[in-house]
Amino acid sequence: MCGIVGFVGKKAAAPILLDGLSKLEYRGYDSAGLAVRDDNNNIEVVKAKGRLKVLFEKTNGGESLPGCVGIGHTRWATHGEPSETNAHPHVSGNSVDDSDVIGVHNGIIENYQELREKLIRHKYTFYSQTDTEIAVKLVDYYLKKYNVGPIDAIAKAMVRIRGSYALALMFKDYPGEIFVARKESPMIIGVEGGETYIASDVPAILKYCRSVYYIDNLEMARIKAGNVEFYNLDGDIVEKEVTEIEWDVEAAEKNGYEHFTMKEIHEQPKAVRDTLNSLVKDGRIDLSGIGLTKDVVNSFSQIQIVACGSAWHVGMAAQYVFEDLARIPVRVELASEFRYRRPILNPDTLVIVISQSGETADTLAALREAKSRGIKTLAIVNVVGSSIAREADFVLYTLAGPEIAVATTKAYSAQLIATYVLAIEFARVAGRLTEDGAKELIDDIYTIPDKIEKILDDKDRIQWFASKYSNAKDVFFVGRGIDYAISLEASLKLKELSYIHSEAYAAGELKHGSISLVEDGTLVIGLLTQDELFEKTVSNMVECKARGAYLMGLTSYGHYEVEDNVDFTVYIPKVNPHFQASLAVVPLQLFAYYITVAKGYDVDKPRNLAKSVTVE
Ligand code: M6R
Repeated sequence: MCGIVGFVGKKAAAPILLDGLSKLEYRGYDSAGLAVRDDNNNIEVVKAKGRLKVLFEKTNGGESLPGCVGIGHTRWATHGEPSETNAHPHVSGNSVDDSDVIGVHNGIIENYQELREKLIRHKYTFYSQTDTEIAVKLVDYYLKKYNVGPIDAIAKAMVRIRGSYALALMFKDYPGEIFVARKESPMIIGVEGGETYIASDVPAILKYCRSVYYIDNLEMARIKAGNVEFYNLDGDIVEKEVTEIEWDVEAAEKNGYEHFTMKEIHEQPKAVRDTLNSLVKDGRIDLSGIGLTKDVVNSFSQIQIVACGSAWHVGMAAQYVFEDLARIPVRVELASEFRYRRPILNPDTLVIVISQSGETADTLAALREAKSRGIKTLAIVNVVGSSIAREADFVLYTLAGPEIAVATTKAYSAQLIATYVLAIEFARVAGRLTEDGAKELIDDIYTIPDKIEKILDDKDRIQWFASKYSNAKDVFFVGRGIDYAISLEASLKLKELSYIHSEAYAAGELKHGSISLVEDGTLVIGLLTQDELFEKTVSNMVECKARGAYLMGLTSYGHYEVEDNVDFTVYIPKVNPHFQASLAVVPLQLFAYYITVAKGYDVDKPRNLAKSVTVE
């Protein structure tokens, strides 16, 4: 939800800001803007509706904005339509020339209406429909009312603002400085080579710096070239440790692929292998590094998995694996539901939250809900130092590297692996699996990366099939058990990327209503990776065929009898059935990708979406 960048140094700021925004465009892409301060202390603001390239052209790649201090923003609209007026930066006056404060914001200010009325009573006027303009004007109001410096003015505004924000502000009377504040929305600050960088996420500054600070909730920072000071709400200085980022620069580039989505689909073998290697030593699971010792694992008698979107789909698949292997009850819930349901949680429950970004507002709130009741929490997270990672009791990092495409692929795959390892460990500790039995399963998981490579080698066939179905109106994915969990992810991938309506159904449930939607030519994709459910699902598919459906079956090599009933088959290698989701999802990611490209849509940045959903 919106990306923020900032720079104070000796180099020209605008090209660095534009480059950073290009790495954050996945966070929002309906408009963008820059504010840059030149050596004579003039601040210029340029904004543009549409993709970042419009702003790039408007500023001649940043060249038309000289100066070494600046802030930038790429927007995902919350308050106010996407327009140049509503684009950030926003100013405290009517224009940049009569403004003392200029700022960009990520997040949502919930009491914006009340604050707006307060400011109107104090003779402020508004030119945009954004909550950001209110935040900037509120800081200006306190600056003048109390005749204080930026830190005190921002602190007073923070006390009044309800909601979430990451703010980066420039003050006319403080040349060479940027001030930032944070509550709930992510923000990092990097310092290297006498220069300082601000960003919503690591990829934006990876090219320039490796040493970053994480600003915490309700903290502010005063940023100068090569220097940063952190403050709490009382205005006291807060000491912080620097974190070294290990992601390589190439990981945030396309590296010859046409789209990040395709690149990340191809990075799945590595994401799986790296994640597995971090949890397994000498063929045996070792979770001591994340605090999950045998005694800790033993202390839990039930699991609650909470997540959103694809991460929730991982939870759906994990539920089957945990319950089957470890015989421990698992409940899976959408974070947005969990947080408002007053869930009943026993003290021996482990709440597992799953999140790529580690910043998803609902998942973070669910984690806090669990913690506030004294329940232990484990986060499966990809982004190091993210809010969820920092607040959970135990953290298991997936090693998928930076995921730039808005639709998740490699992070989903890495999350699945993490849940398999956990399920095996819970089963081993509970005595449901012997050491050797656990090792056998781990060895099997180690075969997954090569098997994904094999599926990727055969992608042309999927491309051909996708080209036939690029005009489909509705697509149904059906499966039972783990195959149902895979269907959920496959269906989301297809609809979020290609805008084709699709639904995922537990195969046995179709005939309870939804089968009435099946008509001549409707594509029904059946997931058939679980041997004991194979025939049942085929029967449900055949019921659709009898009503005109065109059937695609996805099963493992050996199940050639499927061709007696379905019109098109995709075969995948075999792995232990508990882990089959890791293979089955890959052709379906490719299917969604190829259909989207065939339709000419932007596969990396689907409409209306943002990668990191930091509002509820
Ligand atoms: O960063 P998170 O894993 O918490 O994000 C959760 C969802 O927002 C995310 O999976 C979303 O559903 C993607 N659009 C899926 O491709």
